[in-house]
Amino acid sequence: MAVRQIVTLPNEVLRRKARKCTEFGEELQTLIEDMIETMRQAPGVGLAAPQVGVSERVIVVEYRDEEKEDIPPKLYALVNPEITRVSKETVSGTEGCLSLPGLLGDVERPGAVMVKGYSRRGQPVTIKAQGWLARIFQHEIDHLNGVLFVDRAQRVWKPESAEEAAAFD
Ligand code: NI
Repeated sequence: MAVRQIVTLPNEVLRRKARKCTEFGEELQTLIEDMIETMRQAPGVGLAAPQVGVSERVIVVEYRDEEKEDIPPKLYALVNPEITRVSKETVSGTEGCLSLPGLLGDVERPGAVMVKGYSRRGQPVTIKAQGWLARIFQHEIDHLNGVLFVDRAQRVWKPESAEEAAAFD
């Protein structure tokens, strides 16, 4: 495993629509291992392949529910993920992004989503997510379509403290 360099704007890979993965071989396994290590080292709660300069539809998410501190964070690695259902109800939340350091924004998104995709070994996966997990999946899947949180934000600002800056991916 290796920590890869996180690309930031204005790198155009962040604005490209990433291609679907068709093979689940060693190259993909290495990419996923490296993305997990890179996400943990950052640290972040999610990472999309374009953020390490690879224009492929792969995301990793690792999120610990703050209300369930005794339960270890759950790690997801999803290939070709798609949002197949969204709740009507939307929620506003503060997001940041490792590819846009020094910026935060309030983004309104559906409060719950259904995500379909494939595991790293090519098995079909369906995930129902709500709360922060739903937000993280939407943020990461946006990256695969070249969409960044600032495109959706009602308000964007520069955090004044390092503490405030330590939000999200
Ligand atoms: Ni991001």
